[in-house]
Amino acid sequence: MTIEAPTLAHATPAQLKLFSRTLDRMAIKVAQDEPTLGVEFPHVTAPDGSWIRMPASVSAGYTGEAWSHGNWLCGFWVGLLFASYLQTKDQKYLVWARERMRMVAQRADDPNTHDIGFIFDSSAIPGFHITGDRWYADIALQAADKLRARIVTTRRGAYLASWGPMNDPRGRRSSAIDTMANLSLLYWASNHSGDASYRLAADAHAAMTAPAFVRPDDSTYHAVEYDVASGERVRGYTFQGAGDESAWSRGQAWAIYGYVHSARETGKREYLALAERLARYYLKRLDGRVVPPWDFDATGADAHIKDTAAAAAVSSALLELGRLHPNADSGARWTQHGLAMLEGLCRDEFADEASHRGLLRHSCYSKPHNEGVDSATMFGDFFFAEALCRAALPGGLRPLSAVPTL
Ligand code: GLY
Repeated sequence: MTIEAPTLAHATPAQLKLFSRTLDRMAIKVAQDEPTLGVEFPHVTAPDGSWIRMPASVSAGYTGEAWSHGNWLCGFWVGLLFASYLQTKDQKYLVWARERMRMVAQRADDPNTHDIGFIFDSSAIPGFHITGDRWYADIALQAADKLRARIVTTRRGAYLASWGPMNDPRGRRSSAIDTMANLSLLYWASNHSGDASYRLAADAHAAMTAPAFVRPDDSTYHAVEYDVASGERVRGYTFQGAGDESAWSRGQAWAIYGYVHSARETGKREYLALAERLARYYLKRLDGRVVPPWDFDATGADAHIKDTAAAAAVSSALLELGRLHPNADSGARWTQHGLAMLEGLCRDEFADEASHRGLLRHSCYSKPHNEGVDSATMFGDFFFAEALCRAALPGGLRPLSAVPTL
């Protein structure tokens, strides 16, 4: 049984004004940058504030033993164009979004990465929701097929392998916490097509990830290597965090985000309870700040490097957690946390200066690889826009899903 989804009614008039003003400023920056990009897409900002760019076509892969994520950020730019349209109702953003989507669409066949979820959940799904054009839905379904094909079935359960072609054992045995935030594409595909296999794959992944990734203190591993036959965890490790046993803050954000959406889409109370435990851990380590360090266990000078992308993703997830929580008081508390984070990001981290082309300063793509450190990142900017839309334009960017009885 489901009840109709309420709209988010807890933001104050002052917060709504701030969010709307920030969306206006976002739309201006996006319109200034779009004509400068050619066939490339913004990735992260350089120290001078300009965008470092990459074509959409760059897939993930190994060069020898070195792994490269490729361009998993291209869809987020399309998402910003749609968010700008929602705020301004200016048709030029829809024209640009469609042109960009044509360049991103080639990646819907990419067999190399779980990030196919991020790419199309942020672009084709808002495109279909906003325009009703089936072209977008068909692209999203094609991408969902590729994500579903990443399932590895073991005696313990099934998980989605995160990195690399499925015939490469290095990728096949590994999964990342980031995959939890990619599941939204599968949930959407199930709802759209009526084919439950997408949801079953996502649910199986969420069920297997919880015991393998969540530590006794409710922090999370960045990555887990499984025994592909038994499904036992062989080791937990990191790729972008400070250490194998550390709490990489964006990983915690992806986990919160993924379990909130999994609770909504499966109706499973245990996913809601886990999302709350993960969020409580995050808040405890945040210790009153708005923005976490890139890794809660970073030490020395590194402990001062922040990740606004983690803050944006958590803010967006907590707004959704507040909307679907069955207890009104608990729901209101989660909503307040999400709104306070969003307000802090708008006030203190939005890059107003013309020389800084990103929206949010102080994100951190990968400290160990020294890439996008103290930069804007396209994923940070997108999840910031998603949170702003959830607060100020509910149901605009994505369908306002019905809330299950949890
Ligand atoms: N691949 C997702 C991230 O860098 O957080």
